[in-house]
Amino acid sequence: MSSLRTCLGWLGCGCLSAWAVQSPVAIPINEVESAVPPYTLPDTLTLQSGQRVTTAAQWPRRRDELVRLFEEHVYGRIPAGLPRERGWVVETRTHALGGKAIRQRIQVPLSKGPRPILLDLLVYRPAQATRPVPMFLGLNFDGNHTITHEADVPLARGWVANRPRSGVTRNEARESSRGSDAEAWPIERILERGYGLATAYYGDAEPDFDEGWKQGLRGAVAARKPGHRAQPGDWGGIAVWSWALTRALDQLSLDPAIDRHKVAVIGHSRLGKTALWAGARDPRFALVIANESGEGGAALARRFYGETTLRINTSFPHWFNGRFKDYNHRIGDLPVDQHELVALVAPRAVYIASAEEDRWADPRGEYLSGWQASEVYRLLGQDGLPGPDMPALNVSVGSSVGYHIRSGAHALTPVDWEFYLQFADRHLR
Ligand code: GCU
Repeated sequence: MSSLRTCLGWLGCGCLSAWAVQSPVAIPINEVESAVPPYTLPDTLTLQSGQRVTTAAQWPRRRDELVRLFEEHVYGRIPAGLPRERGWVVETRTHALGGKAIRQRIQVPLSKGPRPILLDLLVYRPAQATRPVPMFLGLNFDGNHTITHEADVPLARGWVANRPRSGVTRNEARESSRGSDAEAWPIERILERGYGLATAYYGDAEPDFDEGWKQGLRGAVAARKPGHRAQPGDWGGIAVWSWALTRALDQLSLDPAIDRHKVAVIGHSRLGKTALWAGARDPRFALVIANESGEGGAALARRFYGETTLRINTSFPHWFNGRFKDYNHRIGDLPVDQHELVALVAPRAVYIASAEEDRWADPRGEYLSGWQASEVYRLLGQDGLPGPDMPALNVSVGSSVGYHIRSGAHALTPVDWEFYLQFADRHLR
Protein backbone atom coordinates (compact mmCIF):
# COMPACT_ATOMS: atom_id res chain seq x y z
CA MET A 1 0.00 0.00 0.00
CA SER A 2 1.61 3.25 -1.07
CA SER A 3 0.23 5.18 1.89
CA LEU A 4 2.10 2.99 4.33
CA ARG A 5 5.80 2.93 4.44
CA THR A 6 8.05 0.69 6.33
CA CYS A 7 10.35 2.39 8.74
CA LEU A 8 13.54 0.37 8.73
CA GLY A 9 15.13 1.04 12.09
CA TRP A 10 15.74 4.76 12.16
CA LEU A 11 15.57 5.29 8.42
CA GLY A 12 12.96 7.68 7.25
CA CYS A 13 11.68 8.58 10.69
CA GLY A 14 13.22 12.04 10.69
CA CYS A 15 14.52 11.12 14.12
CA LEU A 16 18.07 9.89 13.82
CA SER A 17 19.31 9.81 17.34
CA ALA A 18 22.22 8.67 19.45
CA TRP A 19 19.81 6.55 21.51
CA ALA A 20 19.11 4.16 18.67
CA VAL A 21 20.80 0.97 19.73
CA GLN A 22 18.30 -1.42 18.17
CA SER A 23 18.85 -3.87 15.42
CA PRO A 24 16.73 -2.66 12.52
CA VAL A 25 13.17 -3.90 12.69
CA ALA A 26 10.58 -3.61 9.97
CA ILE A 27 7.61 -1.91 11.53
CA PRO A 28 4.83 -0.31 9.50
CA ILE A 29 4.59 3.43 9.88
CA ASN A 30 2.00 5.73 8.35
CA GLU A 31 2.46 9.42 7.74
CA VAL A 32 -0.50 10.03 5.43
CA GLU A 33 -3.58 11.52 7.07
CA SER A 34 -6.09 9.95 4.69
CA ALA A 35 -4.67 6.50 5.54
CA VAL A 36 -5.40 6.75 9.28
CA PRO A 37 -7.93 3.98 9.99
CA PRO A 38 -10.92 4.75 12.19
CA TYR A 39 -10.41 4.17 15.92
CA THR A 40 -12.53 4.42 19.05
CA LEU A 41 -11.14 6.13 22.13
CA PRO A 42 -11.96 5.00 25.65
CA ASP A 43 -14.51 7.28 27.27
CA THR A 44 -12.80 9.50 29.83
CA LEU A 45 -16.01 10.12 31.75
CA THR A 46 -17.07 6.49 32.23
CA LEU A 47 -15.78 4.60 35.24
CA GLN A 48 -14.63 1.03 34.73
CA SER A 49 -17.79 -0.04 36.53
CA GLY A 50 -19.74 1.51 33.64
CA GLN A 51 -21.05 4.41 35.74
CA ARG A 52 -20.95 7.82 34.00
CA VAL A 53 -19.26 10.82 35.57
CA THR A 54 -21.61 13.76 35.15
CA THR A 55 -20.58 16.18 37.91
CA ALA A 56 -17.32 17.77 39.00
CA ALA A 57 -17.74 16.10 42.40
CA GLN A 58 -17.57 12.65 40.76
CA TRP A 59 -14.40 13.40 38.80
CA PRO A 60 -11.81 12.66 41.58
CA ARG A 61 -12.93 9.03 41.65
CA ARG A 62 -12.40 8.65 37.90
CA ARG A 63 -9.16 10.60 38.16
CA ASP A 64 -7.80 8.12 40.73
CA GLU A 65 -8.89 5.25 38.53
CA LEU A 66 -7.12 6.72 35.48
CA VAL A 67 -3.89 7.37 37.39
CA ARG A 68 -3.94 3.73 38.47
CA LEU A 69 -4.62 2.53 34.92
CA PHE A 70 -1.73 4.56 33.50
CA GLU A 71 0.51 3.17 36.27
CA GLU A 72 -0.57 -0.41 35.65
CA HIS A 73 -0.60 -0.43 31.86
CA VAL A 74 1.80 2.26 30.64
CA TYR A 75 4.35 3.96 32.88
CA GLY A 76 4.57 1.61 35.87
CA ARG A 77 4.14 2.25 39.56
CA ILE A 78 6.57 4.47 41.41
CA PRO A 79 7.46 2.48 44.55
CA ALA A 80 5.87 3.74 47.75
CA GLY A 81 8.07 5.20 50.45
CA LEU A 82 10.93 6.58 48.34
CA PRO A 83 13.02 8.99 50.43
CA ARG A 84 12.07 12.66 50.15
CA GLU A 85 14.85 14.26 52.10
CA ARG A 86 15.75 17.88 51.75
CA GLY A 87 18.59 18.73 49.42
CA TRP A 88 21.52 21.03 50.10
CA VAL A 89 22.69 24.18 48.38
CA VAL A 90 26.19 23.69 47.02
CA GLU A 91 26.60 27.12 45.50
CA THR A 92 24.85 30.49 45.33
CA ARG A 93 25.88 33.19 42.85
CA THR A 94 24.20 36.48 43.54
CA HIS A 95 25.45 38.15 40.36
CA ALA A 96 24.99 35.48 37.71
CA LEU A 97 24.33 36.44 34.08
CA GLY A 98 25.80 39.90 34.47
CA GLY A 99 23.76 40.62 37.60
CA LYS A 100 20.41 39.58 36.13
CA ALA A 101 20.10 36.36 38.10
CA ILE A 102 20.60 34.73 41.42
CA ARG A 103 21.83 31.27 40.56
CA GLN A 104 21.91 28.28 42.86
CA ARG A 105 23.03 24.73 42.53
CA ILE A 106 21.22 22.34 44.81
CA GLN A 107 21.80 18.63 45.20
CA VAL A 108 18.57 16.76 45.69
CA PRO A 109 18.91 13.18 46.95
CA LEU A 110 16.71 10.68 45.14
CA SER A 111 17.90 7.59 47.01
CA LYS A 112 19.64 6.59 50.21
CA GLY A 113 22.72 4.47 50.62
CA PRO A 114 26.47 4.94 50.43
CA ARG A 115 26.29 6.21 46.82
CA PRO A 116 23.00 8.09 46.69
CA ILE A 117 21.54 9.13 43.35
CA LEU A 118 21.73 12.94 43.33
CA LEU A 119 19.85 15.32 41.09
CA ASP A 120 21.89 18.45 40.43
CA LEU A 121 19.26 21.17 40.33
CA LEU A 122 20.27 24.44 38.67
CA VAL A 123 18.04 27.33 39.70
CA TYR A 124 17.91 30.87 38.29
CA ARG A 125 15.77 33.57 39.84
CA PRO A 126 15.41 37.15 38.61
CA ALA A 127 17.80 39.24 40.73
CA GLN A 128 15.38 42.14 41.00
CA ALA A 129 12.37 40.15 42.26
CA THR A 130 10.71 41.61 45.33
CA ARG A 131 8.13 38.83 45.73
CA PRO A 132 8.21 35.04 45.48
CA VAL A 133 8.59 34.22 41.79
CA PRO A 134 6.68 31.79 39.56
CA MET A 135 8.94 29.19 38.02
CA PHE A 136 9.44 26.94 35.04
CA LEU A 137 10.91 23.55 35.90
CA GLY A 138 12.13 21.10 33.27
CA LEU A 139 14.66 18.34 32.77
CA ASN A 140 17.34 18.78 30.13
CA PHE A 141 18.83 16.23 27.72
CA ASP A 142 22.59 16.63 27.90
CA GLY A 143 23.60 18.19 31.21
CA ASN A 144 23.14 21.53 32.96
CA HIS A 145 26.32 22.82 31.31
CA THR A 146 24.63 22.57 27.89
CA ILE A 147 21.76 24.94 28.67
CA THR A 148 24.03 27.92 29.40
CA HIS A 149 27.30 29.37 28.14
CA GLU A 150 28.37 30.25 31.70
CA ALA A 151 31.79 28.69 32.23
CA ASP A 152 31.30 27.95 35.93
CA VAL A 153 28.32 25.60 35.64
CA PRO A 154 29.84 22.14 36.23
CA LEU A 155 29.83 19.51 33.52
CA ALA A 156 27.40 16.59 33.80
CA ARG A 157 28.93 13.91 36.00
CA GLY A 158 27.71 10.51 34.80
CA TRP A 159 26.44 9.01 31.57
CA VAL A 160 25.69 11.26 28.60
CA ALA A 161 24.32 10.08 25.26
CA ASN A 162 27.09 11.22 22.93
CA ARG A 163 30.32 9.32 23.19
CA PRO A 164 33.52 11.40 22.73
CA ARG A 165 35.34 11.03 19.42
CA SER A 166 38.59 9.12 19.65
CA GLY A 167 41.48 11.22 20.89
CA VAL A 168 39.16 13.49 22.86
CA THR A 169 38.82 13.03 26.61
CA ARG A 170 35.42 12.78 28.24
CA ASN A 171 35.75 16.19 29.84
CA GLU A 172 37.01 17.85 26.65
CA ALA A 173 33.98 16.48 24.82
CA ARG A 174 31.62 17.70 27.50
CA GLU A 175 33.30 21.08 27.66
CA SER A 176 32.85 21.45 23.91
CA SER A 177 29.10 20.93 24.39
CA ARG A 178 28.82 23.80 26.88
CA GLY A 179 25.91 25.99 25.82
CA SER A 180 24.96 23.66 22.96
CA ASP A 181 21.31 23.59 24.07
CA ALA A 182 21.12 27.23 25.18
CA GLU A 183 18.62 28.09 22.47
CA ALA A 184 16.11 25.66 24.00
CA TRP A 185 16.46 27.43 27.36
CA PRO A 186 16.29 31.23 26.84
CA ILE A 187 17.14 31.96 30.46
CA GLU A 188 17.54 35.72 30.15
CA ARG A 189 14.23 36.10 28.38
CA ILE A 190 12.48 33.99 31.04
CA LEU A 191 14.02 36.08 33.83
CA GLU A 192 13.19 39.35 32.09
CA ARG A 193 9.54 38.23 32.04
CA GLY A 194 9.62 37.77 35.82
CA TYR A 195 9.94 33.98 35.99
CA GLY A 196 12.61 31.77 37.45
CA LEU A 197 13.95 28.66 35.75
CA ALA A 198 14.99 25.41 37.38
CA THR A 199 16.47 22.54 35.43
CA ALA A 200 18.30 19.29 36.00
CA TYR A 201 19.89 16.69 33.77
CA TYR A 202 17.62 13.66 33.32
CA GLY A 203 20.63 11.32 33.20
CA ASP A 204 21.34 12.16 36.85
CA ALA A 205 18.23 10.17 37.78
CA GLU A 206 18.81 7.39 35.30
CA PRO A 207 20.86 6.89 32.13
CA ASP A 208 18.66 6.54 29.07
CA PHE A 209 19.39 3.14 27.57
CA ASP A 210 17.97 -0.31 28.04
CA GLU A 211 20.26 -1.40 30.86
CA GLY A 212 20.68 2.14 32.20
CA TRP A 213 18.33 1.44 35.09
CA LYS A 214 21.09 -0.54 36.79
CA GLN A 215 23.12 2.65 37.23
CA GLY A 216 20.15 4.83 38.11
CA LEU A 217 17.38 5.20 40.63
CA ARG A 218 15.69 1.92 39.76
CA GLY A 219 18.95 0.08 40.37
CA ALA A 220 19.47 1.87 43.68
CA VAL A 221 15.95 1.03 44.84
CA ALA A 222 16.27 -2.61 43.70
CA ALA A 223 19.59 -2.94 45.54
CA ARG A 224 17.81 -2.13 48.80
CA LYS A 225 15.36 -4.99 48.29
CA PRO A 226 17.48 -8.09 47.70
CA GLY A 227 15.50 -10.95 46.22
CA HIS A 228 12.90 -8.64 44.63
CA ARG A 229 11.87 -10.03 41.23
CA ALA A 230 10.96 -7.56 38.52
CA GLN A 231 7.21 -7.37 37.86
CA PRO A 232 5.46 -6.28 34.64
CA GLY A 233 3.92 -3.35 36.51
CA ASP A 234 7.30 -2.02 37.68
CA TRP A 235 8.21 1.51 36.74
CA GLY A 236 9.90 2.51 33.53
CA GLY A 237 12.31 5.35 32.78
CA ILE A 238 9.62 7.97 32.19
CA ALA A 239 8.24 7.28 35.67
CA VAL A 240 11.75 7.63 37.12
CA TRP A 241 12.35 10.96 35.42
CA SER A 242 8.90 12.18 36.40
CA TRP A 243 9.73 11.29 40.00
CA ALA A 244 12.87 13.44 39.67
CA LEU A 245 10.56 16.36 38.74
CA THR A 246 8.43 15.71 41.81
CA ARG A 247 11.56 15.73 43.97
CA ALA A 248 12.77 18.93 42.32
CA LEU A 249 9.42 20.50 43.17
CA ASP A 250 9.74 19.29 46.78
CA GLN A 251 12.99 21.20 46.91
CA LEU A 252 11.80 24.37 45.16
CA SER A 253 8.81 24.47 47.53
CA LEU A 254 11.17 24.99 50.46
CA ASP A 255 12.52 28.27 49.09
CA PRO A 256 10.53 31.30 50.27
CA ALA A 257 11.80 33.26 47.25
CA ILE A 258 9.84 30.87 45.00
CA ASP A 259 6.06 30.80 44.69
CA ARG A 260 5.48 27.08 45.13
CA HIS A 261 1.90 27.41 43.95
CA LYS A 262 3.08 28.72 40.61
CA VAL A 263 5.48 26.17 39.24
CA ALA A 264 5.06 25.11 35.60
CA VAL A 265 6.58 21.81 34.54
CA ILE A 266 7.90 21.76 30.98
CA GLY A 267 9.56 19.17 28.78
CA HIS A 268 10.43 18.45 25.17
CA SER A 269 9.97 15.15 23.33
CA ARG A 270 10.67 12.19 25.69
CA LEU A 271 10.99 14.77 28.44
CA GLY A 272 7.61 16.19 27.31
CA LYS A 273 6.13 12.73 27.93
CA THR A 274 7.86 12.89 31.31
CA ALA A 275 6.51 16.37 32.11
CA LEU A 276 2.98 15.22 31.29
CA TRP A 277 3.20 12.17 33.51
CA ALA A 278 4.73 14.26 36.31
CA GLY A 279 2.02 16.91 35.97
CA ALA A 280 -0.73 14.30 35.75
CA ARG A 281 0.43 12.52 38.92
CA ASP A 282 1.52 15.48 41.01
CA PRO A 283 -1.24 18.07 41.43
CA ARG A 284 1.18 20.62 42.87
CA PHE A 285 2.28 21.56 39.35
CA ALA A 286 0.19 24.58 38.41
CA LEU A 287 0.80 24.34 34.67
CA VAL A 288 2.01 21.50 32.47
CA ILE A 289 3.73 22.09 29.11
CA ALA A 290 4.37 19.21 26.71
CA ASN A 291 6.48 20.32 23.76
CA GLU A 292 6.28 17.84 20.88
CA SER A 293 5.82 14.95 23.30
CA GLY A 294 4.43 12.56 20.67
CA GLU A 295 3.83 8.87 21.28
CA GLY A 296 3.60 8.07 24.99
CA GLY A 297 3.05 11.80 25.56
CA ALA A 298 0.14 13.84 24.24
CA ALA A 299 -0.35 12.00 20.92
CA LEU A 300 -3.27 9.57 20.76
CA ALA A 301 -1.89 6.03 20.81
CA ARG A 302 -4.78 4.60 18.80
CA ARG A 303 -4.15 6.91 15.82
CA PHE A 304 -2.01 5.06 13.33
CA TYR A 305 0.20 7.98 12.34
CA GLY A 306 3.89 8.61 13.10
CA GLU A 307 5.45 6.62 15.91
CA THR A 308 3.36 3.73 17.21
CA THR A 309 3.23 1.81 20.46
CA LEU A 310 4.99 -1.13 18.81
CA ARG A 311 7.70 1.14 17.49
CA ILE A 312 8.36 2.98 20.75
CA ASN A 313 8.32 -0.21 22.79
CA THR A 314 10.82 -1.72 20.36
CA SER A 315 13.23 1.22 20.28
CA PHE A 316 12.85 2.34 23.88
CA PRO A 317 11.60 -0.66 25.91
CA HIS A 318 13.02 0.88 29.09
CA TRP A 319 10.75 3.96 29.00
CA PHE A 320 7.53 2.13 29.93
CA ASN A 321 6.59 -0.82 32.09
CA GLY A 322 6.52 -4.44 30.99
CA ARG A 323 2.76 -4.61 30.63
CA PHE A 324 2.67 -1.81 28.03
CA LYS A 325 4.35 -4.22 25.60
CA ASP A 326 1.22 -6.40 25.72
CA TYR A 327 -0.49 -3.73 23.62
CA ASN A 328 2.09 -3.66 20.81
CA HIS A 329 -0.26 -5.48 18.47
CA ARG A 330 -3.62 -4.66 20.08
CA ILE A 331 -3.61 -1.00 21.02
CA GLY A 332 -7.42 -0.96 20.92
CA ASP A 333 -7.41 -3.03 24.13
CA LEU A 334 -5.35 -0.53 26.15
CA PRO A 335 -7.78 0.65 28.84
CA VAL A 336 -6.60 4.27 28.46
CA ASP A 337 -5.47 6.62 25.71
CA GLN A 338 -3.36 9.75 25.93
CA HIS A 339 -6.23 12.27 25.96
CA GLU A 340 -6.92 10.86 29.41
CA LEU A 341 -3.38 11.66 30.46
CA VAL A 342 -3.97 15.28 29.43
CA ALA A 343 -7.33 15.23 31.26
CA LEU A 344 -5.55 14.24 34.47
CA VAL A 345 -4.04 17.72 34.57
CA ALA A 346 -7.51 19.34 34.75
CA PRO A 347 -8.56 21.78 36.07
CA ARG A 348 -4.95 23.05 36.06
CA ALA A 349 -3.72 24.61 32.84
CA VAL A 350 -2.07 22.43 30.22
CA TYR A 351 -0.29 23.37 27.00
CA ILE A 352 0.43 20.99 24.14
CA ALA A 353 2.65 22.02 21.25
CA SER A 354 3.60 20.47 17.94
CA ALA A 355 5.88 21.31 15.02
CA GLU A 356 4.74 21.09 11.41
CA GLU A 357 7.61 18.91 10.21
CA ASP A 358 7.53 16.69 13.28
CA ARG A 359 5.28 14.05 11.75
CA TRP A 360 6.89 11.36 13.90
CA ALA A 361 5.17 12.95 16.94
CA ASP A 362 1.80 13.11 15.11
CA PRO A 363 0.85 16.81 15.48
CA ARG A 364 -2.80 16.11 14.77
CA GLY A 365 -2.87 13.31 17.34
CA GLU A 366 -1.37 15.75 19.87
CA TYR A 367 -4.02 18.37 19.08
CA LEU A 368 -6.92 15.89 19.18
CA SER A 369 -5.77 14.67 22.55
CA GLY A 370 -6.10 18.20 23.94
CA TRP A 371 -9.47 18.57 22.30
CA GLN A 372 -10.73 15.25 23.68
CA ALA A 373 -9.45 16.14 27.16
CA SER A 374 -11.43 19.37 26.97
CA GLU A 375 -14.65 17.68 28.08
CA VAL A 376 -13.08 17.18 31.50
CA TYR A 377 -11.96 20.82 31.61
CA ARG A 378 -15.52 21.89 30.82
CA LEU A 379 -16.94 19.55 33.46
CA LEU A 380 -14.64 21.26 35.96
CA GLY A 381 -15.73 24.73 34.90
CA GLN A 382 -12.81 25.58 32.60
CA ASP A 383 -12.57 26.15 28.86
CA GLY A 384 -11.35 23.59 26.39
CA LEU A 385 -10.24 23.53 22.78
CA PRO A 386 -13.21 24.37 20.57
CA GLY A 387 -13.28 21.53 18.04
CA PRO A 388 -11.38 18.92 16.04
CA ASP A 389 -9.98 21.32 13.44
CA MET A 390 -6.38 22.26 13.95
CA PRO A 391 -5.48 25.94 14.19
CA ALA A 392 -3.33 27.77 11.65
CA LEU A 393 0.44 27.58 11.93
CA ASN A 394 2.18 29.71 14.57
CA VAL A 395 -1.00 30.78 16.37
CA SER A 396 -1.66 29.94 19.98
CA VAL A 397 -5.21 28.87 20.82
CA GLY A 398 -7.08 27.88 23.96
CA SER A 399 -7.29 29.32 27.42
CA SER A 400 -7.08 26.39 29.88
CA VAL A 401 -5.92 23.89 27.28
CA GLY A 402 -3.39 25.74 25.13
CA TYR A 403 -2.05 24.58 21.78
CA HIS A 404 0.12 25.74 18.91
CA ILE A 405 1.76 24.16 15.90
CA ARG A 406 4.95 25.93 14.95
CA SER A 407 6.46 25.81 11.49
CA GLY A 408 9.73 23.93 11.38
CA ALA A 409 11.22 20.81 12.87
CA HIS A 410 11.25 18.88 16.14
CA ALA A 411 12.82 21.19 18.75
CA LEU A 412 12.11 23.42 21.72
CA THR A 413 12.74 26.92 20.38
CA PRO A 414 12.52 30.56 21.54
CA VAL A 415 9.30 30.83 19.46
CA ASP A 416 7.71 28.06 21.54
CA TRP A 417 8.88 29.83 24.72
CA GLU A 418 7.17 33.09 23.69
CA PHE A 419 3.87 31.19 23.55
CA TYR A 420 4.57 29.53 26.90
CA LEU A 421 5.44 32.84 28.56
CA GLN A 422 2.21 34.40 27.31
CA PHE A 423 0.21 31.41 28.50
CA ALA A 424 1.99 31.42 31.87
CA ASP A 425 1.22 35.14 32.25
CA ARG A 426 -2.46 34.22 32.12
CA HIS A 427 -2.23 31.37 34.60
CA LEU A 428 0.64 32.08 36.96
CA ARG A 429 0.39 35.83 37.38
C1 GCU B 1 12.66 9.44 19.40
C2 GCU B 1 11.41 8.76 19.94
C3 GCU B 1 10.37 9.77 20.40
C4 GCU B 1 10.98 10.76 21.35
C5 GCU B 1 12.22 11.37 20.75
C6 GCU B 1 13.04 12.25 21.71
O1 GCU B 1 12.37 10.10 18.22
O2 GCU B 1 10.93 7.91 18.94
O3 GCU B 1 9.29 9.11 21.03
O4 GCU B 1 10.04 11.75 21.69
O5 GCU B 1 13.13 10.34 20.37
O6 GCU B 1 12.84 12.23 22.89
O7 GCU B 1 13.92 12.92 21.22
